[in-house]
Amino acid sequence: MTTIIMTQHTLFVCVLCRFSESNQNQSRLSAGQLLFDYLSKELATCDWHKSIHLHSVRCMGACSRACVVTFAAPNKLTFILSELSPTHSVPELLQFSGQYVACSKGKVPYKERPEVAKKGIHAVLPPLPVARP
Ligand code: FES
Repeated sequence: MTTIIMTQHTLFVCVLCRFSESNQNQSRLSAGQLLFDYLSKELATCDWHKSIHLHSVRCMGACSRACVVTFAAPNKLTFILSELSPTHSVPELLQFSGQYVACSKGKVPYKERPEVAKKGIHAVLPPLPVARP
């Protein structure tokens, strides 16, 4: 059973990311918009969906590595994941979202992460420094 921590987490999804040359699609939607729509639908079925806010963004500057998402939360590591499939990556992104929500400081052990959070890592950033009174 997953322990839910009530920190507000955000999953940013770039909705402008395009399909790669080798992964064209007949959809009128961008790859990023498809990924956002799938995540929105599937995240609603997860126990932790109230702890993570799905937020669309228009470019995160890693366009050549589409699709791109970022997991962020106060006092936690920030994970930027790239080269994601708008369909096949969704189950693993959901798995990682649950791990990220449950994990103190966002430090999901590497061995326990799904492949998208191993091979798909574009960058991992430390938590922002806490302002001192
Ligand atoms: S268009 Fe998605 S990162 Fe730039």
